[in-house]
Amino acid sequence: MIFLTGAAGFIGANFVHHWLGQKDEPVLVLDALTYAGNLESLAPVASDPRYHFAQLDICDRPAVTALLTTHRPRALLHFAAESHVDRSIHGPGDFIRTNVQGTFELLEAIRAYWAGLPAPEKAAFRFLHVSTDEVYGSLSPTDPAFTETTPYAPNSPYSASKAASDHLVRAWHHTYGLPVLTTNCSNNYGPYQFPEKLIPLMIHNALAGKPLPVYGDGQNVRDWLYVQDHCRAIARVLEAGRLGETYNVGGCNEVKNLDVVHTLCDLLDQLRPKMDGSSYRAQITFVADRPGHDRRYAIDARKIERELGWTPQETFATGLRKTVQWYLDNPDWVEHVTSGAYRQWVGKQYGAAA
Ligand code: NAD
Ligand code: DAU
Repeated sequence: MIFLTGAAGFIGANFVHHWLGQKDEPVLVLDALTYAGNLESLAPVASDPRYHFAQLDICDRPAVTALLTTHRPRALLHFAAESHVDRSIHGPGDFIRTNVQGTFELLEAIRAYWAGLPAPEKAAFRFLHVSTDEVYGSLSPTDPAFTETTPYAPNSPYSASKAASDHLVRAWHHTYGLPVLTTNCSNNYGPYQFPEKLIPLMIHNALAGKPLPVYGDGQNVRDWLYVQDHCRAIARVLEAGRLGETYNVGGCNEVKNLDVVHTLCDLLDQLRPKMDGSSYRAQITFVADRPGHDRRYAIDARKIERELGWTPQETFATGLRKTVQWYLDNPDWVEHVTSGAYRQWVGKQYGAAA
């Protein structure tokens, strides 16, 4: 069995579907079900005997320890986090608690469990930490892409908390010998993403006839990675990654935000044309910039390609079309957007258009 923290969220849920589609090995999802955790994303596997779920907070070390003792997993993949940059600006406390304190509690629970394993199981055990390219900070248009040796320079409360968690994971390997692996990936997109992130938010607002709020001048660049490509990379690192190493995972898809929004509007114009014949582009509205907004992210993914043979399979064009189609086909899932207090803050920070 493998344990997956935070797998009722976007990437973790996609990972569950990927894993159970490929392997016989059971999974146990450990998730607190915050606003971002949604069991509906796991509904397609709910009756699969290989799927198990436990609602818990990763800060609750005794609860994690009890599950480790009962199920004796051979690996833990750590997806759980507070993950949205705007929320971290609004309220950084939850990010420090879950991403820093939570990772610490998890590492300590795992260290005690791992230390008590018989030698062969101890040697085979893996702790895989899922992290972000945001720990490397912001690139200028001419800077080379982030490599695994780019110095850390996090700029938001979110990325600072993820950087802290990366350092804890690294330290538990060097100090205690814990068998860890870390992945740092770029912006994911695809099915089951909570509609507060750029791509699902724009699809949701476009269909609702609402403004499409582009922060600042819309020229910030992100390197888009289709979530199933990311899941394949994680499975590959778990299988063959070198202990203590970090692997950058990126889609080789650097796109300016405004171009992303234009492409989404054009896809929706084709797939769900408006009754009045106008383009969704008319809904685009420039709003205030995000405080501390990183200008550009770009991943150099040559290490994972060279060492583990992983490359992304999806182009941005094919991945985005699949994503738009998924949101069009799953309006009920999208309806479960909540959190009024956060929406109010977004309205205040970015204006009525957001
Ligand atoms: P998400 O916000 O969609 O899901 C996070 C999940 O963690 C939710 O199911 C939530 O309920 C759970 N969770 C939060 N706090 C918890 C706690 N204290 N205890 C237990 N569970 C808790 O996040 P995501 O987009 O799926 O990201 C997954 C991981 O990948 C995160 O670590 C994130 O930092 C990292 N990451 C995400 C992206 C991206 O583009 N989404 C890119 C790079 C890295
Ligand atoms: O790079 C990896 C990171 O990507 C992950 O670690 C984070 O968990 C994930 O949330 C994502 O962070 P970003 O801040 O890049 O993603 P977001 O979707 O919030 O924003 C993408 C870009 O779009 C960013 O430049 C801000 C801009 N934006 C975002 C929203 C929500 C807008 O212009 N308008 C919006 O309404």
